[in-house]
Amino acid sequence: MKILDGKAVALKRRQQLAQLISREVSAGNRRPTLAVILVGNDEASQVYVKHKTQIAQAVGIEPLTIHLDKNVSHEQLYGTIDKLNLDKNIDGILLQLPLPKRFVEEDYLQAIEPNKDVDGFHYIHQGKMLQGYDSIYPCTPLGVINLLAEYQISVHKKNVVMVGTSNIVGKPLAVMLLNLGATVTMCNQNTQDIKMHTKAADILISATGKQFIITKDMVKPQATVIDIGITRDLKTNKLVGDVDYINVAPITSAITPVPGGVGPMTVITLMENTFKLYQKHLN
Ligand code: GUN
Repeated sequence: MKILDGKAVALKRRQQLAQLISREVSAGNRRPTLAVILVGNDEASQVYVKHKTQIAQAVGIEPLTIHLDKNVSHEQLYGTIDKLNLDKNIDGILLQLPLPKRFVEEDYLQAIEPNKDVDGFHYIHQGKMLQGYDSIYPCTPLGVINLLAEYQISVHKKNVVMVGTSNIVGKPLAVMLLNLGATVTMCNQNTQDIKMHTKAADILISATGKQFIITKDMVKPQATVIDIGITRDLKTNKLVGDVDYINVAPITSAITPVPGGVGPMTVITLMENTFKLYQKHLN
């Protein structure tokens, strides 16, 4: 069984990206800038944003965090996005989710200029992705694809089963896998017999945020298992994934740990996406 070490792969990619950025700066260009908008005091979001800021700095991207009060008006939030859209020194804009419940997230995500949309959530990017064109792809799905590639785990002709079909992870990842020649099955809350599907998976991917929803009896021996879920175990206070790792790992051929698997890949992909937009802005 191989542990897919997202932390190590992300670190390697971080060094590669830092080099590319330092080359641009040496050539007299400005640094890439990533703006992150955080609304309210969601604890997990604050931790994520702080982490993104640190990694940005580590690769040479200028981070700009805009922390808005949870009572900010709709106009103020639109105004903040608009101002960043127009600012020539900003390459990427990330609106940290979730927003407080009174906001319709989609309205604000779609207000971000496509050429600054580091998350790849704009309909233009989604449409291009659906048709298999180069675009800005969402960070977690692309991070998973890059992690598999790093370990030379091909998805071509494989049965891939996706558990969890969110707009930001499950659906885009399924499309990307399909574009790479996988046969993709998507399971959601309405799926009658999840195990019937997961048992047939060469590559099983779970992104539900439900602790230990994937148990050993659901996994085909020698499958590759990718765990995108992350929750805090209230008993141990530790971060855990969707997969019952202790029991599942021994029967797999490869598996991602939580933490240290997909999470670090998401963050480095965000930086890579920022750099991709930056390069377009330079030209
Ligand atoms: N919150 C949790 N995951 C994400 C993500 O991928 N993008 C944004 N903007 N917010 C998130």
